[in-house]
Amino acid sequence: MNSLATTSLFTLLLLFGVLPFSSNAQLDPSFYKNTCPNVSSIVREVIRNVSKTDTRMLASLVRLHFHDCFVQGCDASVLLNTTDTIVTEQDAFPNINSLRGLDVVNKIKTAVESVCPNTVSCADILALAAELSSTLSQGPDWKVPLGRRDGLTANQSLANQNLPAPFNSLDQLKAAFAKQGLNTTDLVALSGAHTFGRAHCSLFVSRLYNFSNTGNPDPTVNTTYLQELRNICPNGGSGTNLANFDPTTADKFDKNYYSNLQVKKGLLQSDQELFSTSGADTISIVNKFSADQNAFFESFKAAMIKMGNIGVLTGKQGEIRKQCNFVNSKSAELGLISVASTDSSEEGMVSSM
Ligand code: HEM
Ligand SMILES: *[C@@H]1O[C@H](CO)[C@@H](O)[C@H](O)[C@H]1NC(C)=O
Ligand SMILES: *[C@@H]1O[C@H](CO)[C@@H](O)[C@H](O)[C@H]1NC(C)=O
Ligand SMILES: *[C@@H]1O[C@H](CO)[C@@H](O)[C@H](O)[C@H]1NC(C)=O
Ligand SMILES: *[C@@H]1O[C@H](CO)[C@@H](O)[C@H](O)[C@H]1NC(C)=O
Ligand SMILES: *[C@@H]1O[C@H](CO)[C@@H](O)[C@H](O)[C@H]1NC(C)=O
Ligand SMILES: *[C@@H]1O[C@H](CO)[C@@H](O)[C@H](O)[C@H]1NC(C)=O
Ligand SMILES: *[C@@H]1O[C@H](CO)[C@@H](O)[C@H](O)[C@H]1NC(C)=O
Repeated sequence: MNSLATTSLFTLLLLFGVLPFSSNAQLDPSFYKNTCPNVSSIVREVIRNVSKTDTRMLASLVRLHFHDCFVQGCDASVLLNTTDTIVTEQDAFPNINSLRGLDVVNKIKTAVESVCPNTVSCADILALAAELSSTLSQGPDWKVPLGRRDGLTANQSLANQNLPAPFNSLDQLKAAFAKQGLNTTDLVALSGAHTFGRAHCSLFVSRLYNFSNTGNPDPTVNTTYLQELRNICPNGGSGTNLANFDPTTADKFDKNYYSNLQVKKGLLQSDQELFSTSGADTISIVNKFSADQNAFFESFKAAMIKMGNIGVLTGKQGEIRKQCNFVNSKSAELGLISVASTDSSEEGMVSSM
């Protein structure tokens, strides 16, 4: 083959291989460059302010983005309150008495609306808040692809189906992530978000006293750690006490999650399984991230961007919600949208009021 033919073949490969692939990447970090150039600083300032009195909120906001994306994609469905047409995801088992930060998202949305009305979606705010929370906790930073639109529906039963549970087996965790297009490396990297934040005793107390009706604790809990956790979570207690996910650096985003797993100090069964399931392909990934924070951060960033792309609405799909807890037609009905701030698609409805 001569060099010209090789070049043409290469061009063809580019055209039919690379270009269609890159046109699938619908989101773009510079999406608001002209319409809301300062959006990131606005979100950052609100979060920074809140985290001064509530450090844990940074963890809570990362979790909120995850719980959005795993249920019909990153469409801010998790933020929708119950109405005549919506059954809120906030009352699904993995969310009830557990989700935090809904009020902070509303604060952010209000701050953003005051500078760039009807422009920035609630789904993008969740994605930005997750990245800024990582950064503010000394974790990795990345350019957040933007341009998501907000969905018009929520699905509580899908939230119950799709969000992983702390007592899931490693195979179940892998399956839950595979369903979202996330592989085993993504599972291990994203689980590293349990480097900060807290969990309620009710979600791991089954490991501490009578694990699987054996009469003994989970053998994969370090005995020193077992004592610490028993002190926090008494046998037969209410289960509402909180333990840090990371017993070493509670609020810092670092690789200690993985070194904790190596000494049997994973808080949830689903955490410890990544290292203690015999023969599992996750063990070597835990070891790699424990030894190399840069490797963890790089994989975490890639996986967060991948997760942030799940099932996104773009272009003319969905809408830009004015108030994150309600679709715009409901906000108008409830009088939460003023006539002046309503975009053209709602004008008819509002002017008839
Ligand atoms: C692998 C499967 C996962 C399971 C089974 C799981 C389960 C849980 C549970 C049970 C809690 C405690 C909730 C409570 O007590 O109120 C929690 C908290 C948390 N999760 Fe996960 N999670 C998983 C993956 C993830 C992922 C992928 C992320 C983010 C990328 C994440 C981020 C967090 C954070 C930051 C917290 C602490 C939140 C706070 O303190 O408010 N988790 N998770
Ligand atoms: C962007 O926001 C930050 C923080 O809110 C503020 O300090 C800065 O002046 C803003 N810049 C512009 C161009 O509005
Ligand atoms: C930060 O918090 C203080 C006190 O709660 C409040 O007065 C101030 O307006 C807040 N600033 C921002 C940018 O949210
Ligand atoms: C949405 O529901 C939450 C409770 O789940 C409540 O705190 C909040 O006030 C509601 N939002 C609005 C705007 O009614
Ligand atoms: C919710 O998701 C389930 C799949 O688990 C689907 O069968 C159902 O139609 C969805 N419900 C709504 C209201 O979209
Ligand atoms: C998982 O996906 C990442 C990209 O996010 C890729 O770099 C990695 O090679 C994949 N890992 C496996 C085990 O397939
Ligand atoms: C553990 O739980 C099982 C089933 O509930 C029960 O039969 C057993 O007595 C318990 N063992 C201890 C030591 O509490
Ligand atoms: C339990 O934790 C201690 C540190 O607190 C550590 O020295 C020990 O090796 C751990 N045990 C196991 C079995 O990992």
